[in-house]
Amino acid sequence: MDAIECITTRMSIRGFRPDAVPTEVLREVFDVARWSPSYKNSQPWEVVVVSGEKKAALTREMIELLENGYAPSPDLPEPAGWPAAEQARIDHLFRRRAEATGIDLKDPAIVRKAKKANFSFYGAPHAIYLFQDSSLSLWSLFDLGLFAQSLMLTAHARGLGTVPQAFATDYAREIKEFLGIPATRRLVLGLSIGYPDKESPANRFRTDRATTDEIVRWLE
Ligand SMILES: Cc1cc2nc3c(=O)[nH]c(=O)nc-3n(C[C@H](O)[C@H](O)[C@H](O)COP(=O)(O)O)c2cc1C
Repeated sequence: MDAIECITTRMSIRGFRPDAVPTEVLREVFDVARWSPSYKNSQPWEVVVVSGEKKAALTREMIELLENGYAPSPDLPEPAGWPAAEQARIDHLFRRRAEATGIDLKDPAIVRKAKKANFSFYGAPHAIYLFQDSSLSLWSLFDLGLFAQSLMLTAHARGLGTVPQAFATDYAREIKEFLGIPATRRLVLGLSIGYPDKESPANRFRTDRATTDEIVRWLE
């Protein structure tokens, strides 16, 4: 698979087979992702992989917090609003997803159900958490995004599925305590990783994109 095929065929996977990924395969994903570029080669990424009973306990804790009505307090808060172009794309996604899967993320009851699925890492055998020091600037957040994409593309090239999950960071403080990560780190992203369940209806829905002409201006 070349780079272009890898980028254009990757998609978020939300249904996984339960079987664990061999540690050497997971290790290769990080061995490759660490070659991502970063500002002054500062490499502002810290990774925690959670599996087995530890992951199950983390899932239980997050679902318990949700059910007890704890308000989410992610280190990177959800935007209060979106500019018109981005909001239109979100509306488009939600409309298409509701039509294709019946999952309407404008319905609070469905969002709650979706959060539980997120906290369960969609049945994946492993969860990945990405952290960096909270004092780092927006440039480092940018760098960690590049790292996340490298990680997802490498996983895809090796037949693994991933999904990046802002929802998995809802209870950042509790997650850091649970994982033994200092409070001085910011939790940027959670991801599920494992072998895609090809039978899962969740994996049949494919998102689309705005056209190149909508996003690129050519000046001479
Ligand atoms: C920063 C970020 C946060 C996301 N958070 C979630 C999430 O909490 N739950 C989820 O199921 N998908 C989440 N996604 C996945 C997006 O919905 C998905 O990438 C987007 O709809 C494009 O679809 P694709 O990944 O299949 O190409 C997130 C993606 C990114 C990049």
